[in-house]
Amino acid sequence: MSENIFYTKAAKYWANVPATIAGVLGGYEHISDIDIKGSKAFLNDILALKNAPGTKLALDCGAGIGRIAQNLLIPLFDEVDLVEQEERFLSAAEKRIGETNKRLGSLYNVGLQNFTPQKKYDVIWCQWVLGHLNDFDLIAFLERCKKALNTNGVIIVKENITSSEEIEYDDEDSSVARPYKLMQLIFQEAQLDVIKEDVQDGFPEDIYKVYSFALIPNELEKRTFVLTI
Ligand SMILES: C[S@@+](CC[C@H](N)C(=O)[O-])C[C@H]1O[C@@H](n2cnc3c(N)ncnc32)[C@H](O)[C@@H]1O
Repeated sequence: MSENIFYTKAAKYWANVPATIAGVLGGYEHISDIDIKGSKAFLNDILALKNAPGTKLALDCGAGIGRIAQNLLIPLFDEVDLVEQEERFLSAAEKRIGETNKRLGSLYNVGLQNFTPQKKYDVIWCQWVLGHLNDFDLIAFLERCKKALNTNGVIIVKENITSSEEIEYDDEDSSVARPYKLMQLIFQEAQLDVIKEDVQDGFPEDIYKVYSFALIPNELEKRTFVLTI
């Protein structure tokens, strides 16, 4: 499939989805609370590290209607920016969160494949969206995110992982689920090290396994940097 069709088909799918939690979770709104609970535990472990990221600014990528920003990131960070390609979802996020909460920061209405972060972030959260990028764009996106990390900053990826060794394409929303090994290869290509990973528990049997990965710029890159100054 051409790159263009892969992206336009996804955009068309999301343009027809209601701006609700049930909409962004494909009818699985009942797993939102358990998802947020698992993410909180994962993120709190990261924030308790010796070289923990700060808690000033976070970025929620493929933010949908701000489900993660509202329930996970805003309670922990001074400010949270959102990037999301479906404009209706961003407006819904603004309504749900922004009118009462000063912690909602900049809203970027653009696809991740075309997005370059303009600030330095302590945490960049990417959940249930990276399957909408092809491998090449995903590596390039992660590289741009890496450059946008504050000191001790961390990228968190929480995504469906196939139990087969194969990439599985979803023709309905035009996304892929990747196997574990491919995700590792992509992180390596982007020169990111996994410092923590976990499998979300308590999810229904009929959905993909969902892994969380915490990523930091890799050692090799740090060494190269030291050698060149
Ligand atoms: C499954 S929903 C998840 C939303 C949110 N991350 C959450 O967990 O509640 C996928 C989201 O990714 C957005 N999306 C799809 N393709 C995208 C792209 N190329 N760039 C940015 N966002 C995209 C959709 O509009 C939708 O809001």
